[in-house]
Amino acid sequence: MLILGIETSCDETSVALVEDGRRLVASDVASQVLMHEKFGGVVPELASRAHIQKLIPLIDECLARNDLTLADVDALAVTAGPGLVGALLVGVETAKALAFAAEKPLIPVHHIAGHLYSPMVSGPSDAYRHIVTQLDADNSAVENAPAKANGEAGNSPEISPAKSTPGLVQQRDSELEFPYLGLVVSGGHSSLVVVQSPVEFRVLGETVDDAAGEAFDKLAKLLSLGYPGGPLVERAAHGGNPKAFKFPRPMMRREHGYQFSFSGLKTAALQQVRALDVEKIASDEGLRADLCASFQAAVVDVLLKKAAMALEETGLRQLAIVGGVACNGALRAEAAQRFAGVARVVFPPPALCTDNAAMIAGLAYHHRDLHAGCDLTLNAQATLPLGPVRNEHQ
Ligand code: KG4
Ligand code: ZN
Repeated sequence: MLILGIETSCDETSVALVEDGRRLVASDVASQVLMHEKFGGVVPELASRAHIQKLIPLIDECLARNDLTLADVDALAVTAGPGLVGALLVGVETAKALAFAAEKPLIPVHHIAGHLYSPMVSGPSDAYRHIVTQLDADNSAVENAPAKANGEAGNSPEISPAKSTPGLVQQRDSELEFPYLGLVVSGGHSSLVVVQSPVEFRVLGETVDDAAGEAFDKLAKLLSLGYPGGPLVERAAHGGNPKAFKFPRPMMRREHGYQFSFSGLKTAALQQVRALDVEKIASDEGLRADLCASFQAAVVDVLLKKAAMALEETGLRQLAIVGGVACNGALRAEAAQRFAGVARVVFPPPALCTDNAAMIAGLAYHHRDLHAGCDLTLNAQATLPLGPVRNEHQ
């Protein structure tokens, strides 16, 4: 069964083709990072506008490149929430129109459930395409040449190596089986979830304030490193001493359970930056590396200590770390080291950590029986409980 997935919940316009929930045929991601960078964060109105301009051409191109038309696809899947509602609406309304016109079932998917499923999808490196969308003088999105198929930055000036994740495409080396513990670490979410099956989830805990990715983005902003901050903080941390500065590890007592809190860490970073002086940090690479490495180590430590507690209490022996922050090399290395002999740790390839439609098309395969036809009452939702998405008439 071939499913065409659509994802537009934030600042990536993405289209993917996945067979039987597992085999990735194509994953096309048009990233808007360069558009939002100068504003230091995602501008919802610009994101929606760029999705409108990019989505249909991306779908056409993805199908054509694979010698397919909509008639060859068995179903459409779309992220229905949570996310920026204007951005989600572009995907949802486009998917409804296409499913109606082509007489195909339409399967709505929860964005975080998609992230949790992302390690289950894999494909050859030439299945991945990464494009960077820019704004022209009128603030409308313009098309740029795609990066090389393997996700490495091309020579085009629009595809900045600094903004792309190195080693974007890299296959997982171990199979994941249900049930497993999922640690979601993205720009909008930090949570620990028992993933019992593709349709059953038990949320153990979430962040009470900022998400892990948001914390990285905020430090990057304080240091004027750019946006999105995670990869830039990681790069700046390179060679730094992770013990140089003491950052708090909030909500670590047992009674806090599985809740995370990253706003205290952000405040501590702000105080540290003020105490050191931002100009001095900018001119002293070693100092900046120590600061970023210490901050990164605090985030990683909090995430992995909570995950360790959850593994112990649930008895699960598999941990999937998903979402944009799962690209982070320090998190990957530390998780592998801490859980050696305790649990199998699985990360999706970096191209499937950040937002993508492959995880949506993959998970939709398991939700197909819930959505036999195309329901035109489907709506985008900014917030949505974790689980299979129900249509309004169900
Ligand atoms: O999953 P994602 O693409 O979007 C959301 O659903 O939020 O995650 C984006 C987040 C951003 O906050 C970004 O800074 C962070 O993931 N991120 C990283 C890295 N790459 C992306 N954080 C730390 N280290 C990285 N290498
Ligand atoms: Zn996401």
